[in-house]
Amino acid sequence: MIMEVIDSVREMQKRCDELHCAGRRIGLVPTMGYLHEGHLSLVRLIRGKVGEDGVVIVSIFVNPTQFGPGEDFEVYPRDFERDRRLCLREGVDLIFHPSAAEMYVPGATVYVSEDRLSRGLCGRSRPGHFRGVLTVVAKLFNIIRPDVAVFGRKDAQQLRLIERMVTDLNYPIEIVAAPIVRESDGLAMSSRNTYLSEHQRRQALCLNRALQAAEEAFAGGERDPVRLKATMASITADVPEVEVEYIEIVDWETLERLSSPIERKALAAMAARVGGTRLIDNTLLDPTAK
Ligand code: PAJ
Repeated sequence: MIMEVIDSVREMQKRCDELHCAGRRIGLVPTMGYLHEGHLSLVRLIRGKVGEDGVVIVSIFVNPTQFGPGEDFEVYPRDFERDRRLCLREGVDLIFHPSAAEMYVPGATVYVSEDRLSRGLCGRSRPGHFRGVLTVVAKLFNIIRPDVAVFGRKDAQQLRLIERMVTDLNYPIEIVAAPIVRESDGLAMSSRNTYLSEHQRRQALCLNRALQAAEEAFAGGERDPVRLKATMASITADVPEVEVEYIEIVDWETLERLSSPIERKALAAMAARVGGTRLIDNTLLDPTAK
């Protein structure tokens, strides 16, 4: 199969109808493009899920509705030609690359929003962000009707919200969670890392260092979320240019802040600004893991 590129919703629906009728399994990797190894690891994972006879679709769409006023929508890095080459190299079958006008008809008033898991963590400082994410992912699911879709643990709150949406709205779609892919020095890969100067990039490493310190303390038996958060905060405090937005330890299922000792799977998550760039990172703390 040669790689197809489709930019119209109508045509995409028609093509997916044909693929479904032909009995092909469809795997979807939703992205905003400017692909890096993190995205490509998702492509490989989904290929493993749908097999060689399946169809791997990557959507590339910088979704305006998930950016707030004053956020980086206009300057978000875009390079479709580079993304196209990377997809081709990875054996992607089809790229869905709609324009904003194609995805959002004027006068739209129906959205998908969630009112519990989306409140804390990134939802606190980015009102409307997860409504934009859930709405666009629901639209992609409705247009493509994939059998399986993959999301990275890098955006842990987003992953939990999509899992919740699939359950609550009865999407017959398997959601696969992909591990966080990091640079060799530990920085979580992100399209936004291109905003960082050399100096800022080095400072940004304290996010991963803080999470590693929490992991180490946790492995050593520390279960108190307050002390774990203090351990993380002491590391970021040493890097004054890193402005922490939040350091949280929440229950993995409910994303509610923990105040008592960790007994179930928990998420240590943080967001910080380095220069003007907002970065997030997280790690799972699982007391049942061996
Ligand atoms: P984007 O930031 O492009 O990320 C696309 C997918 O790649 C997401 O599932 C994200 O979690 C995953 N990803 C990004 N960096 C990763 C890393 N270092 N390791 C593993 N996975 C990583 O997330 C979005 O786009 C959008 O919100 C989207 C879901 C496409 C809706 O617009």
